[in-house]
Amino acid sequence: MPTRHPIEGNAPAAAALHSEKLLVLDFGSQYTMLIARRLRELGVYCEIWPCTRSLADIAAFGARGIVLSGGPASVYDPGAPATPPVWTLGVPVLGICYGMQALAHQLGGQVVAGTTREYGPARVHVEVAAGALFAAFDAGVPEPVWMSHGDTVRELPPGFRAVAHSDGGLLAAMADDSRRLYGLQFHPEVVHTPRGTEVLAAFALAVCGCRGSWTMEGFADTAVAAIRAQVGPAGRVLCALSGGVDSTVTAALLHRAIGDRLTCVFVDNGLLRHEEAAEVERLFAEGLGLPLVTVHAADRFVTALAGVVDPEVKRKRIGSLFIDVFDDAAQASGQTFDFLGQGTLYPDVIESVSWQGPSVTIKSHHNVGGLPARMRMRLVEPLRELFKDEVRRLGRTLGLPGWLVERQPFPGPGLAVRVLGEVTATRLELLRRADAIVRAEIEAWPGHRDLWQWFAVLLPVQSVGVMGDQRTYEACCVVRAVTSQDGMTADWADLPRDVLGRIGRRVVNEVRGINRVAYDVSSKPPATIEWE
Ligand code: XMP
Repeated sequence: MPTRHPIEGNAPAAAALHSEKLLVLDFGSQYTMLIARRLRELGVYCEIWPCTRSLADIAAFGARGIVLSGGPASVYDPGAPATPPVWTLGVPVLGICYGMQALAHQLGGQVVAGTTREYGPARVHVEVAAGALFAAFDAGVPEPVWMSHGDTVRELPPGFRAVAHSDGGLLAAMADDSRRLYGLQFHPEVVHTPRGTEVLAAFALAVCGCRGSWTMEGFADTAVAAIRAQVGPAGRVLCALSGGVDSTVTAALLHRAIGDRLTCVFVDNGLLRHEEAAEVERLFAEGLGLPLVTVHAADRFVTALAGVVDPEVKRKRIGSLFIDVFDDAAQASGQTFDFLGQGTLYPDVIESVSWQGPSVTIKSHHNVGGLPARMRMRLVEPLRELFKDEVRRLGRTLGLPGWLVERQPFPGPGLAVRVLGEVTATRLELLRRADAIVRAEIEAWPGHRDLWQWFAVLLPVQSVGVMGDQRTYEACCVVRAVTSQDGMTADWADLPRDVLGRIGRRVVNEVRGINRVAYDVSSKPPATIEWE
C-alpha cells in the first residue's frame, strides 16, 4: 500500500519541496524511525517503506539515495527479509547493521554468525583514505560507536573494500566507491554514536547530493496549498480539538488555508487536567483568534465510566461516547461538513506499513476514528508526513506560542487512564490536584525540557500514614517522568532528589486524601508510559 501524501493535488509546490528525497527501507529495527528523523533533521525529506516493496515502486519514488535499516533477523533465517536489487537503480545505497549484512549477502559476500557478539558501546578504527562517508575522520583515532549485532560480514562482496574495523577486528564499515554502495555495522542514528550524524550527513549531502531543502517554512506553504486543493473552494472542515500540539497545529494550518470554513470543536470530557479546559478556550479565543465550539460533557463521561475498572473497557467507552458527543455538536451547529481535520502523524502512518504487518494491540488508542464514516466525511490530515519534533517546529513557524508547542503529550482518554480502578468525579479531582503539583514542581526545574512526559497517577490502593498525631488511611499517588524520542520506547527520568522531595512534601500536605507518593522507576519496555 503506497504511503498517501497530503500533497496530492498540488504537484508543482510539492515537487519543489520533495525534489530531494531519500528512502529508508525498513527491516524491522527499533531504530528505523530514528534514521528517518536524523535525515529530516539534516533537512532531507525521507520516507520509510517496508523492505519488501517492489523495485518498480522504489524506482518510481525517485529517491536520490536509499538507506537499508537494521533489523532483528539473520540473513540465514528462513524467510529472512530481503530487498529487491535496489543497487541496480544507480543511486547510492547505505546499509546499516542488518542492512549491511543483507547487502553483503545479496551481492555475493559472506555473512557468518559472529563468535564474538557486539552489543552496546564499541570503538571503530577508520582506515586511511576511508572514502566519502568518513572523509572528516582521522585514520587511527578510535571512534566510539553503538553496535548491536550477532552476525558479521566475513567476506566482502566483489567490488567492496573494508573501510573500518572494530576493536575486536570485525568489519565495521565497507564501501564500493564506484557504485556508491556502503555498509555500516554500527548504528550512526543513535546518540551513543557521537559522530554518527556526520556519517549520515556525508551520505545524504555529499554522496547523494541533497542540499537540505526540507524546511517547515516550505512545508507550511505547501500544506496550505494542498489543503486548499483538497477541500476545494467551498468545502467545510470540522476539527476535533484536544488542546494538544498535534490538533492545535492542524487547526492553525487549516485556518490559514480555509479561514472561517473551519469549525473547531473542543469536548470538555471532565478527564482533563487542572484548569485545562479554560486554558484551551483562552488560547483559542485570545491567542490564536480561532473560533472554538466547546461542548461541556463531563457528566456524560463520568456516568459512562461508572463501575468500570478494566483499562480497555474504559478506553472503548470513552472513544465511542466521544463520537456521540462530537456528532451531536456537529449536528447542533446546523452546518454540514465535508471533511474531518485530524492530526495524524508520520509514526502512525509508518506503523501501518511495517513489513511484518500490524503489531498486537497493547492499548486501543483513542482518536476520532469512526467519525468520518458515520458522518460521511473525508479526512484531511495535513501532518501525515511529519514527526513530532517537526510538528513543534511547524507550530512555531505558524506563530503558535512556545508553551503550547512544547506541551507534553496527553492521551486522548485523559486522566481516566491515570485514575487506576474506578473513575469517579472525586478521584479525578484528587488526581488533578496532585498532578498540578507534580507538573508545577517538575516544570520549575530547567531539566524538564529534556523530558518527554511528566505526570501523576492515582492508585486504587490505600495505605496507612500518620499526620500530626492522627492515623491516616488514604490514597497513594505515583509520579511518572520519562525521557523518550518518540514515545515508542522510554526511560524513567532521573529527577533531582530535591524536586522529588518537594513533590512528596507538597502533595501529602496540600492534597487531602493522599498520604503517600511513590516514584515509578520502570522503563518502556517492559512497562508502558501510561499506567493503563
Ligand atoms: P504508552 O502508554 O503506550 O504511550 O507507552 C505512548 C504514548 O502515547 C500516549 N498515549 C495516547 N495518545 N491517545 C493518544 O493520543 C491515546 O489513547 C493514548 N494512550 C497513550 C502516551 O501518553 C505516550 O505519550
